[in-house]
Amino acid sequence: MPATVVVGTQWGDEGKGRVVDLRAKESVLVVRYQGGHNAGHTIVVDGETFALQLVPSGVLYDHVTPVIGNGVVVDPVVLLAEVDMLERKGVDCSRLVVSTHAHLVMPYHQAMDTANEERLGEDGIGTTRRGIGPAYADKASRIGIRVEDLLDPPTFRRRLRAALLDKNELLRRVHDHPGFDADELAEHYLEDVAPRIAGFAADTVSLIHESLEAGHRVLFEGAQATFLDLDHGTYPFVTSSNPVAGAATVGAGIGPGVIDRVVGVVKAYTTRVGAGPFVTELDDETGDLLVERGHEFGTNTGRRRRTGWLDLVMLRHAVRLNGCTELVVTKLDVLDTLDRIRVCTAYEIDGVERPNLPDRMVDLEKARPVYRELRGWEADTSNAREVHDLPPAVRDYLDFVSEWVGVPVSMVCVGPGREQYVHLSG
Ligand code: GDP
Ligand code: IMO
Ligand code: MG
Repeated sequence: MPATVVVGTQWGDEGKGRVVDLRAKESVLVVRYQGGHNAGHTIVVDGETFALQLVPSGVLYDHVTPVIGNGVVVDPVVLLAEVDMLERKGVDCSRLVVSTHAHLVMPYHQAMDTANEERLGEDGIGTTRRGIGPAYADKASRIGIRVEDLLDPPTFRRRLRAALLDKNELLRRVHDHPGFDADELAEHYLEDVAPRIAGFAADTVSLIHESLEAGHRVLFEGAQATFLDLDHGTYPFVTSSNPVAGAATVGAGIGPGVIDRVVGVVKAYTTRVGAGPFVTELDDETGDLLVERGHEFGTNTGRRRRTGWLDLVMLRHAVRLNGCTELVVTKLDVLDTLDRIRVCTAYEIDGVERPNLPDRMVDLEKARPVYRELRGWEADTSNAREVHDLPPAVRDYLDFVSEWVGVPVSMVCVGPGREQYVHLSG
């Protein structure tokens, strides 16, 4: 049986976690393929909120094996704390599997991330300061430490010493940071962290292929989103991995032909945390209303999210980049009180209207949104469960989006609760 990828089409926090939770009903494996604990995926079940950072969003089902693939960077201390948090809430995490090839996020990565952001001040990226960028940089520089190394004390000690050589120099000389003692750190990780991580570490590539060969549908959970992608996002205001759907092949070890469904998750408006261009950003009362009604504060860092209208120029580009076969629109209910709703259908750059995303950042920074105004529905949609519960203006809005980007909207979400959605097609 083939695979489904769930991917964010904007700048993150589209509601991927809750969509994965819904789709996990028909899956046996739910696999994260990139990112780390910079992600914050929220699922609300019977009024109880589960905020996940590393553990895949299928974990709430007993029939699902949650898998952390090789492309993820794992802070093992954070992972264990998350497992403990879930277990305290009665969620069984014993099935969790972590790739031996996944790289570790270590305390020095976090220190470097924070120090860099502090040094850059207003010119910073506005990262989550979780050490994600420095961990991926070490991976690319081939001085990273993998989960398998943590399970082999001599290798762990050796690789830790090697990794800290230049980091300590940099931290001490440039960032006025005391640095880290390799031996102390090694003892702490080998004694307190490694024994528990050993229980989760496995060959996830074989596990995924055995599941596919047994005829099961495997679900891949993207973190971050298309415009935070290292290659395709608004560089340099991006994350250090590739969230796009195609990256599931590398981040989990499958061939591209295995993927037959790509679910693009799109918020009914746009949000962004951190710095970088945002063409449809609202700096007015409507922007504040979206923050308030949408509770637009980071799951992870608590930062207020920037808000704006839905951008169909970006969305169409995201559909192309990911090969989306369908869209799930989330947070529709947040727009319930508006009498007019705007969607951006083109950019004006230097007086010229353009339908596509510009290929240069200087142009994106200059772009002004060209809007189409649609009528609002001014009705409470949060209790809608069937298509006929949705006001005609909602259907017009969804049809407009779907026609503009060329793929169907298969589901619309009308509240954070697991049951708050309307199935439309597919
Ligand atoms: P993710 O990172 O893409 O998984 O998204 P987050 O969990 O960071 O942010 C989405 C937020 O919106 C969470 O607080 C969800 O509980 C909430 N949410 C998801 N879908 C809906 C929806 O349809 N309506 C409303 N009002 N909230 C939603
Ligand atoms: P989920 O999976 C929203 C943003 C940060 C910053 C940039 C780089 O919950 O959608 P990083 O720490 O990754 O080096 O920060 O990326 N960012 C996110 N924004 N949702 C996320 O994850 C994000 N993960 C990273 O705010 O702008
Ligand atoms: Mg999030």
